Amino acid sequence: MTESASADVSVSQSNGVLEVRFNRPTKKNAITLAMYAVIAKALEDANGNAEVRAVLFTAAGETFSSGNDIMDFASAGANFEGTPQARLLEAFVAFEKPLVAAVHGPAIGIGATMLLHCDLVYASETARLRMPFVSLGLVPEAASSLLLPKRVGQAVAAEMLLLGAWVEAARALQLGLVNAVVPATDLEATARAKAGELAALPPNALRTTRALLRGEADRNAIRERIRDEGVHFAKALGSAEAREAFTAFVERRTPDFSKLS
Ligand code: COA
Repeated sequence: MTESASADVSVSQSNGVLEVRFNRPTKKNAITLAMYAVIAKALEDANGNAEVRAVLFTAAGETFSSGNDIMDFASAGANFEGTPQARLLEAFVAFEKPLVAAVHGPAIGIGATMLLHCDLVYASETARLRMPFVSLGLVPEAASSLLLPKRVGQAVAAEMLLLGAWVEAARALQLGLVNAVVPATDLEATARAKAGELAALPPNALRTTRALLRGEADRNAIRERIRDEGVHFAKALGSAEAREAFTAFVERRTPDFSKLS
């Protein structure tokens, strides 16, 4: 097993599986700019490394990920292009090998939208997904405005992306957002076994089948949607709506949008 680590994400490799582990449990695995960069680099390197046959995402603590670090949002610039977030999303789109995720507890924001880019998602009974962009004064990211309605239909996508509704594990399974729900104690072993199974398959057939499943035209459409969403997202980050939402989060109060037009 080879291992490298930044404080908040650890990356290890064993038997053809690269494991990327979110490791910032005291902040519910909120993803900082530095963490985006580490994860993006891990995927970029893995894409060109024949020894990596599959990637597995896991998380330490009680939460898969609480999404983008809200403190980082508050200090974001006006452009999406060139950000660590844009780099990670491109790494997801360009990735050619199977991506597996083991999700327990809340998976919020990018913690949920990244699952739309994974091939196999295993959830524990504690898993619940949320994409609360609008409640934060923001807009969808990671092409979720394209991929989510395709996956779950327009009605459920509206519940999730407009209302920011929570989707519990059992419903996520029903909706096809996850492959299986397993007891928390079996989660990582189940996901690791599936990633190991993938890693033992013939790599070219696997890569080609994955590319066919996804479609090259779809890949370009996803890139374009990520860019479009990114333009709106970067603009929204500087808005009064987002400022109120971020301030309310820090002050642990309900945001008040009633005076905003
Ligand atoms: N960014 C930055 N810090 C975050 C965070 C985030 N996305 N999510 C949680 N944290 C921090 C909290 O500020 C708190 O820090 P503190 O202990 O220094 O005060 C710590 O993590 C624990 O969070 P807390 O809210 O007390 O835990 P909880 O168990 O009550 O709730 C969540 C967990 C994940 C449901 C809740 O923290 C949450 O909703 N987070 C924000 C999710 C979000 O909107 N993300 C952005 C998506 S675009």
